[in-house]
Amino acid sequence: MVKVVICGAAGGIGQPLSLLLKQSDLISHLALFDVVNAPGVATDLSHINTGSRVTGHGKEGMNEAMKGAHTVVIPAGVPRKPGMTRDDLFKINAGIIRDLAEGVAKNCPGAFVLVISNPVNSTVPIVCEVLKQHGVFNPKKVFGISTLDVVRSSRFVSEIDSSMDPRATRVTVIGGHSGVTIVPVLSQIPGQKFTKEQLDTLTHRIQYGGDEVVKAKDGAGSATLSMAFAGARFTNAILEATVAGKTGLVESTYVNLSADPESTAAFRAKTGLDYFAQDVEFGREGVAHIRPLPHLSDYEQALLDAALPELKVNIAKGTAFITDNS
Ligand code: NAD
Ligand code: LMR
Repeated sequence: MVKVVICGAAGGIGQPLSLLLKQSDLISHLALFDVVNAPGVATDLSHINTGSRVTGHGKEGMNEAMKGAHTVVIPAGVPRKPGMTRDDLFKINAGIIRDLAEGVAKNCPGAFVLVISNPVNSTVPIVCEVLKQHGVFNPKKVFGISTLDVVRSSRFVSEIDSSMDPRATRVTVIGGHSGVTIVPVLSQIPGQKFTKEQLDTLTHRIQYGGDEVVKAKDGAGSATLSMAFAGARFTNAILEATVAGKTGLVESTYVNLSADPESTAAFRAKTGLDYFAQDVEFGREGVAHIRPLPHLSDYEQALLDAALPELKVNIAKGTAFITDNS
């Protein structure tokens, strides 16, 4: 039973994510931190009859919220409006994430850090660089949550082929979490033979699923409920592996590849990338093993080739935000 902190807990993602995590029996203390409304959300949730204690922490309460945390989940920051890219959020969210990572380094340096805030391709390197500066970086413990791409893939595939159960269909999604950097590996779904037209439709919808929601919400933000679902799925998997010792749990997630140097050495040498989303097996320490790239069809190899330049730029931007400003 452990303490979990949600940073940005009163937001569009933060509230339903906190609600879902209130149902976990592995959490003894759910600490909700936000610069607005955290005490109200916490008091509301605290009446739910599950085992965890819930506390709310406002603007000045970050240190108290993070003290001794096992896991810190970060959906803090601004979401997109129509016409914006995720990278457009960098100028506001980069500073927010840096400050939260500083909080982790000072208050719970051994915590698992699960980053939702966009642009994930850059915010994860920001967290890692801050932790490095404080001498507390463990690449096995920092994750970019790209689970929504996986969740969408399972659902969208089932809409094209109704014989596929969206709950049971696991799709590996590699690369990063924005537009062309999202590379769904649909060829590895057992028994699937999509036509080229279906592949084009599915791939585009998965890569731009976020834009679909941003457009439909028409200025009121981006995905919150499906993201809370995906975030809870990911957080629960981390807790089950690291607290309950469950083995065999695998999720596609965006990580620093030094978390498994052996398995990723050839890929790093070939691409020059230090961060990448790939299927990761979880263990007590977080990352137990980063799986090698699955076999890619020619179609997927072309997607990956198109993803790499943008990913590289996103990673360099996040890294430089810390290294150039220190
Ligand atoms: P939101 O505006 O509804 O909520 C964000 C919350 O963060 C707000 O309550 C705000 O007060 C809080 N906040 C701002 N600065 C803070 C700080 N310094 N410390 C603590 N809390 C702070 O936004 P949202 O819809 O919940 O989205 C949050 C982020 O998640 C956005 O960056 C969005 O792009 C991203 N997102 C990522 C994914 C993904 O797949 N990884 C999916 C959806 C959204
Ligand atoms: C998503 O994929 O829904 C999120 O990254 C939010 C966004 O900006 O699209």
